[in-house]
Amino acid sequence: MEKVRQWSWVLGIIGMLALLFFLSDDGNLATVSVRRALRSATGSDTWYNNMLTKTNNLVVLNNGIVRLTFSHPGGDVIGIQYKGIDNLLEIKNHENNRGYWDVVWNNRETEGVDKLQGTRFKVITARADQIEISFIQTYDVSLGNATLSMNVDKRYIMQRGRAGFYAYSIFERPEGWPEVDIDQIRIVYKLQPDKFQFMVVSDDRQRIMPTAEDRENGIKLAYPEAVLLTNPSNPDLRGEVDDKYQYSTENKDNKVHGWICTNPVVGFWIIIPSDEFRTAGPFKHDLTSHVGPTALSAGKEVGMRFVEGEAWKKVFGPVFVYLNSVPTLNETILWENANEQVQ
Ligand SMILES: *[C@@H]1O[C@H](CO)[C@@H](O)[C@H](O)[C@H]1NC(C)=O
Ligand SMILES: *[C@@H]1O[C@H](CO)[C@@H](O)[C@H](O)[C@H]1NC(C)=O
Repeated sequence: MEKVRQWSWVLGIIGMLALLFFLSDDGNLATVSVRRALRSATGSDTWYNNMLTKTNNLVVLNNGIVRLTFSHPGGDVIGIQYKGIDNLLEIKNHENNRGYWDVVWNNRETEGVDKLQGTRFKVITARADQIEISFIQTYDVSLGNATLSMNVDKRYIMQRGRAGFYAYSIFERPEGWPEVDIDQIRIVYKLQPDKFQFMVVSDDRQRIMPTAEDRENGIKLAYPEAVLLTNPSNPDLRGEVDDKYQYSTENKDNKVHGWICTNPVVGFWIIIPSDEFRTAGPFKHDLTSHVGPTALSAGKEVGMRFVEGEAWKKVFGPVFVYLNSVPTLNETILWENANEQVQ
């Protein structure tokens, strides 16, 4: 009798939640949920994932450790909340200029930088321990050569119990679309400059960095990226030259890099488990982190050229954004802990 009552209670809840998802505006979500609900009734899975909430303008993933806020349906990362810091990203920047993808492309008629704005949102998987979401930008054939002739599916994965998230994108073009050259594909995170001042790109390249303002106040040298710091906010840096190419790394060594905030002590790391997706090869030098504070995962000079009609599909990533924290400042501990995440 007790058992029967428990079961009817469980089925009642499942029914209610399934109904809720049916009423939501996302057909895909509904089918996933029902499948999960059926499996959970057999005891082999629990489908209910309470990491996701969604409104008209926002999608939020929260595993109790990290809270990620995305624009909807664009799919930019506009907020990363961690260890009492409401947003690790630069809140002064517009929402599409904090955590985003961009693609530099051209064809013989047009060129552009496409910041991959999704028009459709989908839940790919929603298990109790993991959720994967998708924001899709679709090419409109009627626009011909005027835009990037590629469909892009931006994916984000959050796992329960992990301080971070995965990001990757699926680029795809079927046969018959206009020609395009892709010069660069990047994932960019712009952090709060008041908080993140210490940068680590390798065991022997880690330091307190100048600010973007320090660069503006300095003197441009032989090329615009190299700036002599004449009046930096941190007087210790006066007379130094800042140049982001000082911090580039060969792809094969570019596995972990990032920034540290001293109060509270928080590390923000870009972890690249495999560099296979970087088409330029293992010895290609590429940018890592630099003044901003900016953390990048770049595929510069990816050199992909598609003739008219050529079909293609590629996954760019995954990149793991990892966050860590210790009670008292020790950059080495955070850096070593971030490196331990690379398996
Ligand atoms: C795109 O540009 C190329 C080169 O100018 C041209 O041959 C092609 O017809 C154009 N395609 C479309 C769909 O406009
Ligand atoms: C920071 O941690 C490292 C590694 O555990 C240790 O060797 C070092 O002494 C620590 N530094 C400080 C200032 O406590």
